[in-house]
Amino acid sequence: MKHIHSYYSPNDLYNKIIDGLNRLGKDLSKVTLDDLQPVDEFHIRGDTATKELIKLSGFTPDMHILDVGCGIGGSTRRLSHETGCRVTGIDLSDEYIDTAQRLTKLLNMQEKVDFHAASALELPFDDDFFDGIWSLQMNMNVEDKLAWLKETRRVLKPGGTAVLYEVCGNKNTPLYFPVPWAQDSSMSFLIPPESFREVMIAAGFEIGVWNDKTDLAQKAFAKVQEPVGKPELPVLGVYLLVGDDISTKAYNLRRNLEEERVSLIETVAAKPGGKQALPG
Ligand SMILES: C[S@@+](CC[C@H](N)C(=O)[O-])C[C@H]1O[C@@H](n2cnc3c(N)ncnc32)[C@H](O)[C@@H]1O
Repeated sequence: MKHIHSYYSPNDLYNKIIDGLNRLGKDLSKVTLDDLQPVDEFHIRGDTATKELIKLSGFTPDMHILDVGCGIGGSTRRLSHETGCRVTGIDLSDEYIDTAQRLTKLLNMQEKVDFHAASALELPFDDDFFDGIWSLQMNMNVEDKLAWLKETRRVLKPGGTAVLYEVCGNKNTPLYFPVPWAQDSSMSFLIPPESFREVMIAAGFEIGVWNDKTDLAQKAFAKVQEPVGKPELPVLGVYLLVGDDISTKAYNLRRNLEEERVSLIETVAAKPGGKQALPG
């Protein structure tokens, strides 16, 4: 897990983002979720996908949700902002968690949103603790998916739901590397969607919603060109999180999607028991 941790550990990330905001002429006392979106929603289709998932979630203001693999907390904050619920984020990367905490303070959202550095395979919370789980594009780095999903289910209250938005494998292998979540194959553990669904069921989840979003992912990446020379990077972008070769990573993701090496799913699943409110 060490090499995954170091992949997601850029230096001085918060100050680089602040520098970017300054260069864009933003007033730091009035920074919004949308200002940060280019850098803090590190998943396919960014805030558009987050908003769709929030609608699907059914999460309400009285709930406390756990964001597993929250990155620097863009969708964590958006989830709290749009639903009014309390959200706790955990991530393997200390640098991301430090940045998540400082950005949350900058947006004055720290009363409802907090973060801890932790592994998704060893969550520092009691059984049946959270009303809901939210996890966007983290499974790719997790080899033991059954252990991860069982651990996720453990901290969820009976009747609570989990919203997952995940990159899976597809009909063809191998993948082109690097991709946004991995420099090489030693960091990427994709299984086909049908297998992912089976592992969720084996971990004790009951599947409510199951949507294939691969076509939307393909459309989102359809225009990404193979980089020539040193491409110009925007002031704010996820390259700050995972390196300047992001253009190559995005191009490889396009190829992996188009050649059916990668797929994308969204799901809402419940932990049986309690007062279940499963959509779908
Ligand atoms: C592609 S990013 C997605 C981040 C965030 N969910 C988002 O959508 O902006 C994947 C994240 O998973 C985290 N991660 C990978 N393996 C993990 C593990 N075992 N436990 C906790 N976090 C992990 C990484 O540190 C990284 O922040």
